[in-house]
Amino acid sequence: MPTIRSAARPCTTDVGGRCGHSASDLRAWPRQTGCVSRQEPSGYGDRHAAVYDRIYGARFAPDAAVEALVRATAGGRVLELGLGTGRLAIPLVARGVEVDGIEASGAMIAKLRMQPGGERVGVFRADLADFELPRRDYAVAVCAVSTLFMLTDRRAQRQCVACAARHLRPNGRLFIEAFRPDPARFDAAGRRTEIRRAGNGTRHVVRSRHDAAGQLVHISHLLSDAAGSAEYDVTLHYATCEQLDAMAAAAALRLAERWHDWTGAPATEASNDPVSVYVR
Ligand SMILES: C[S@@+](CC[C@H](N)C(=O)[O-])C[C@H]1O[C@@H](n2cnc3c(N)ncnc32)[C@H](O)[C@@H]1O
Repeated sequence: MPTIRSAARPCTTDVGGRCGHSASDLRAWPRQTGCVSRQEPSGYGDRHAAVYDRIYGARFAPDAAVEALVRATAGGRVLELGLGTGRLAIPLVARGVEVDGIEASGAMIAKLRMQPGGERVGVFRADLADFELPRRDYAVAVCAVSTLFMLTDRRAQRQCVACAARHLRPNGRLFIEAFRPDPARFDAAGRRTEIRRAGNGTRHVVRSRHDAAGQLVHISHLLSDAAGSAEYDVTLHYATCEQLDAMAAAAALRLAERWHDWTGAPATEASNDPVSVYVR
């Protein structure tokens, strides 16, 4: 899919897109280090849409985030950066919040649209690093589950924060949920393997490799069952909280609060997935 720049277009059609992989699609475990070239905006979503909810559904329960966002909107509108299958957008519209969102992947948009309430989400098919929407009065913008770090080029991350800031109304808030890798979780070579519980006889193995110098984490989900197995990879280029604050400051946003998680407790050094709240 070509990168869509500038004026994002509302997506009213269901874009097909199948992304199930067979065992023969298994790709080699990424061995590159320091790889910060730009990932294709729709690539992750098109590859993961079929399994996204299986991998993350139970792990990232949306309730606390939805509560926090409903409180912050105070009747205003939400802009979600990277809608995915609607994990946040669907419960938000169910609570009466008006939600628009950016999403590059046709396969993800199709999944979102299939859900009850999916038709009520305003979908703009665009690149998070370069979008221009008709409205600039959002009360809240939200970039959840480290979606910002899917933009593996630092400049693209800065542009994403700046685009979000431009679309907020005065006193509007940008929420960024972003992980902090805990070096203790990786072995001396920066590797970690985790076996997660998965239903329906599925075996789910998560292999991660941390490149501390490059601020990269390569993650591979291997799902296997009686029918075969498939591997889903993503590379994240993480930023420290200080780096996030600098991106926000460059976009004329001020840090209002940093939470340990979506419950709103203050962040500490031990917070692995802090939520930074910036105000315009
Ligand atoms: C980790 S998922 C998060 C989905 C949802 N926000 C949630 O909380 O479950 C990230 C989403 O952002 C989309 N995405 C990643 N990079 C993008 C880009 N450069 N432009 C637009 N969408 C992008 C992916 O297709 C995917 O649907």
